[in-house]
Amino acid sequence: MRFPSIEKTAVIGVIGAGTMGAGIAQLAAVHGHPVLLLDAAEGAAAAIARIAKMLAALVEKGRISEADCCAAIARLQPVDKLDAMAGTALVIEAIVENLQIKQQLMQSLEQVVKPDTILATNTSSISVTAIANGMQHPERLAGMHFFNPVPLMKLVEVIAGTETRTDVLESLAALVERWGKTVVHAASTPGFIVNRIARPYYAEALQLLQEQAGTPAQLDRAMRSIGFRLGPCELMDLIGHDVNYAVTASVFEAKEALIYSPKAFP
Ligand SMILES: NC(=O)c1ccc[n+]([C@@H]2O[C@H](COP(=O)([O-])OP(=O)(O)OC[C@H]3O[C@@H](n4cnc5c(N)ncnc54)[C@H](O)[C@@H]3O)[C@@H](O)[C@H]2O)c1
Repeated sequence: MRFPSIEKTAVIGVIGAGTMGAGIAQLAAVHGHPVLLLDAAEGAAAAIARIAKMLAALVEKGRISEADCCAAIARLQPVDKLDAMAGTALVIEAIVENLQIKQQLMQSLEQVVKPDTILATNTSSISVTAIANGMQHPERLAGMHFFNPVPLMKLVEVIAGTETRTDVLESLAALVERWGKTVVHAASTPGFIVNRIARPYYAEALQLLQEQAGTPAQLDRAMRSIGFRLGPCELMDLIGHDVNYAVTASVFEAKEALIYSPKAFP
């Protein structure tokens, strides 16, 4: 069996309707996909209301037409059970950054979706191979790492776990390019590319604050003035300190595992 390319009007499932899930759902709906949005905390309907506000703001700025805005909103459907994902071509999870919870979700999803449904994780830092561990068909899972805010940020890292099939990666890369994004393929190493290189940006800024070398505003102004789009403190605020801490801990632990047991990762 070959995993198919994801057609322009294929149904896409998004699980987790927080910052990232809502952004991914908006992007997919604007590009013509019916989107099923599921959140554990009954947040899917609220997320759709937030997306509708964002799209209305784009209409006011003249970036999209009223008709396109209404059509995109109509494509977004909140659902409250995993079973609703049965007819999807692709499911992207953007739930809490926790290995066991993501593993559980993927194993449950496999029981529900079609044999050729592609599954993707938006994890920032957890090994895709580890998330696939325990799945009946780990070859259908890949990382699809969007950046915040999803509708604006160009890059998507498409990440191969050790068992991810090449046709899965090809389908995801083609889809992401159709959505106007830039694809960079990455291996499932700790933090992939961007989050690995970005770790010291935050860590050194926090250490400078601890040393009372400057205020957050001074650090941000310095880094912006040298050409960075955002300074480290405002960037941590944007990401969310809970999410950023979870990513840092996960990259740290994965690197430790790599050092002390090279076969443990990816
Ligand atoms: N925030 C960022 O800048 C960023 C960037 C790239 C990737 N990510 C990754 O995306 C994922 C989500 O991050 P976020 O910032 O959107 O988090 P968030 O806290 O804003 O949203 C997570 C959502 O998932 C829901 N959820 C939690 N467990 C669930 C489950 N088992 N089933 C269904 N829904 C569940 C929560 O209710 C919440 O609404 C994480 O893996 C994170 O590492 C985050």
